[in-house]
Amino acid sequence: MNSNEAPIIEVVDLVRKFGDRTVLNDISFNVHRGETLVIMGGSGCGKSTLLRHMIGSMKPTSGSVKIFGEEIATMKEREIGRVRQRFGMLFQSGALLASLTVGENVALPLFQHTERSADEIEEIVKQKLQMVGLTGFEDLKPDEISGGMKKRVGLARALALDPELLFSDEPTSGLDPIMTAVVDQLTLKLAHGSHMTAVVVSHDMTSAFRIATRMIMLGHGSIVAQGTPEEIRTSTNPEVHQFINGEADGPIPLNLSQDEHEHHQHVKPRPFVSARFRFHHKTP
Ligand SMILES: Nc1ncnc2c1ncn2[C@@H]1O[C@H](COP(=O)(O)OP(=O)(O)O)[C@@H](O)[C@H]1O
Ligand SMILES: [Mg+2]
Repeated sequence: MNSNEAPIIEVVDLVRKFGDRTVLNDISFNVHRGETLVIMGGSGCGKSTLLRHMIGSMKPTSGSVKIFGEEIATMKEREIGRVRQRFGMLFQSGALLASLTVGENVALPLFQHTERSADEIEEIVKQKLQMVGLTGFEDLKPDEISGGMKKRVGLARALALDPELLFSDEPTSGLDPIMTAVVDQLTLKLAHGSHMTAVVVSHDMTSAFRIATRMIMLGHGSIVAQGTPEEIRTSTNPEVHQFINGEADGPIPLNLSQDEHEHHQHVKPRPFVSARFRFHHKTP
């Protein structure tokens, strides 16, 4: 990280409300080139919402979000499209197109944003799938592969254009410990070898401490703590301590995440559902 250089991302006084609920409350931080910033915090605390503001897919209620020195919060969709070519995004669900094969999903940004020939694109797709351990899976459809594999295809697609900046939302959730380590090592390799900057949302503490050069912990809409992994590990803040040690009792209030929130709306309340939620939130 070079602190003389302008930050790659500058978030200043970001506020986001949904109705009268304030989900992000006056958040400010910078991301510098070469950093791997991990954003952590409990379910529903606003991590995905914060990421969506950084990539310009959500607009703030107030405040500013600059990416590569440009204000993305007020940008028109066409300008955002131009900025999007410079970063990759791995969504929490993988967000693959169900009608396309694995290979076509990874090829999509290359067809959309480059002039490369079909042969060159095929070669790049092979190489990106190899990076995530999915050689030979080109011709399968997303619904023929597991959740963890979808996630890795999403990562291959996010890396298709060799972005200088990668956003990932829970890149290792749903992966087994070995695949988690593979994805983490890939992030580390890209950060060190290609000087890629990464902003990673994670609640997997093993993974977070493995890849982070800096960490931010969100809670009740604000930044509870930020610092180096060592500073976070030795923090005396009770919320940080509870979170990184996965303790059930402590100052962090229970909350529903976006996914559970959506699920909750689609499912008629039945006794076993609320029992499952209760159980789920007791288990870190
Ligand atoms: N589009 C939306 N409309 C209304 N509420 C939302 C929307 N997106 C997120 N929220 C709410 O914002 C809060 C934070 O959600 P989210 O950012 O998905 O949390 P996290 O990723 O930390 O689990 C949740 O309470 C969620 O219900
Ligand atoms: Mg989320």
